Amino acid sequence: MKNEGFSSKIGFILAAAGSAVGLGNIWRFPYLAAQYGGGIFLLTYLVLVLTFGYALLISEIGIGRMTGKSPIGAFRELCAGKKSFLGSVRLGGWINAVVPMIILPYYCVIGGWVTKYVVAMATNPVSTFHQSNSGASAEYFVKFITDPWNSTLFFLLFMLITTLVVACGVEKGIERFNKILMPALILLIIGICVYCMFLPNAKAGFTYYLKPDWSKFSYMTVVAAMGQLFFSLSIAMGIMVTYGTYMRKDDNVVSCVNHVELFDTGVSFLAGLMIIPAVVAFGGEAAANNSGPGLIFVIMPQVFAGFTGGGIVGVVFFVLVLFAAATSAVSLMETNVHTISQELKISRKKAMLCVIGEVICIGVITVLGYSVLKEVHPLAFIEKYRNMDILDTLDFISNSVLMPIGAIFTTVLVVAVIGLEKFSGQIKTGGKWRRQFTFQFCMSVIVIPCLLIVLLNAVGVLK
Ligand code: ALA
Repeated sequence: MKNEGFSSKIGFILAAAGSAVGLGNIWRFPYLAAQYGGGIFLLTYLVLVLTFGYALLISEIGIGRMTGKSPIGAFRELCAGKKSFLGSVRLGGWINAVVPMIILPYYCVIGGWVTKYVVAMATNPVSTFHQSNSGASAEYFVKFITDPWNSTLFFLLFMLITTLVVACGVEKGIERFNKILMPALILLIIGICVYCMFLPNAKAGFTYYLKPDWSKFSYMTVVAAMGQLFFSLSIAMGIMVTYGTYMRKDDNVVSCVNHVELFDTGVSFLAGLMIIPAVVAFGGEAAANNSGPGLIFVIMPQVFAGFTGGGIVGVVFFVLVLFAAATSAVSLMETNVHTISQELKISRKKAMLCVIGEVICIGVITVLGYSVLKEVHPLAFIEKYRNMDILDTLDFISNSVLMPIGAIFTTVLVVAVIGLEKFSGQIKTGGKWRRQFTFQFCMSVIVIPCLLIVLLNAVGVLK
């Protein structure tokens, strides 16, 4: 595997932020926030980002930079020579490596939906999606995902885009894309937020999103926010460990993490601000509570249909979301290629073929989960997940089960195998560290008990 590295600090920050900012922020965050009570979800999420998210992000980038290896190699190297329990922590490397292999196929499926919407916005009169055209936007979306050929085609198209970027190599492919497109995306989202502020009834939507309602708080708020945090910050998926390997020893990990955290959370917050008031404006709180993975695809076209020139803005919006999704998919694919080529000792090209094969197999099954395979519910043996479709199952297994387990291993690795003081010393080489106490406190006291609760709750041991 070639470790080309990044040409500048800003290059690294933008690439890591490009990996973090993706469908997680623009597709996943708004529908979870809408579903789990708006303001209370936002508050829970922010608290978790500033504590858990921060500590785990520092840990992963630090582990990558210390060892120069992808998760399996890094865990193996750091656990070498340790006996019994500490030696078995190396298993964590495998968990962190398997997660992106589960996520990438369904990520490409959603990426395919976004690709479809670029075409849909460009080829249909935007009035097709107008809210007065009762249910047309939702119907359009359902018709598309339940059409096996069309949705498979767009899934493959998105995968092809991702593969081409990875084939160009780390620096040329990723860095160049992110420098231009990330800021453009953020500006466009801010513009749409301003427009949404003036929608009739938007005030109720802003209140729903910004004012925490404690009566809506439950265990599930924390489980969902935690899964979202992992997904969005690209934690426990080996990505940040891999990106850490591209960092030089004198680069400032702390400042990079601060930037990535800010970028990622900022974009999620803005995406919520853009979508949730619109959902409430169009369908009331009930629509927000019932939202699911289709939210952005149903609501945003309706927003665009509301103003002159909305069709063009819609195309630009979905193109930018497409690039944000592609940069994250690229980092997922890059991580998988890196892991497979290192572990199986095969060339990058062969590793890439393995990854593409896996993505096509699982991705096609996932796409068909909305049509030919719609009666397949892989977790039907668990009462609470009896109706879960294939995509949601992959999302649940990776985000709510494997990621907390992976993060527990990472925490044990940092705290017990490497040692918190020694690890902190490595992190500080790049400069001052104001949030060192937060990091050490979270890692040694909070992370493991909370992750265990989340995990047990997710698998249904706690009700
Ligand atoms: N962190 C990436 C995203 O949010 C996977 O889309």
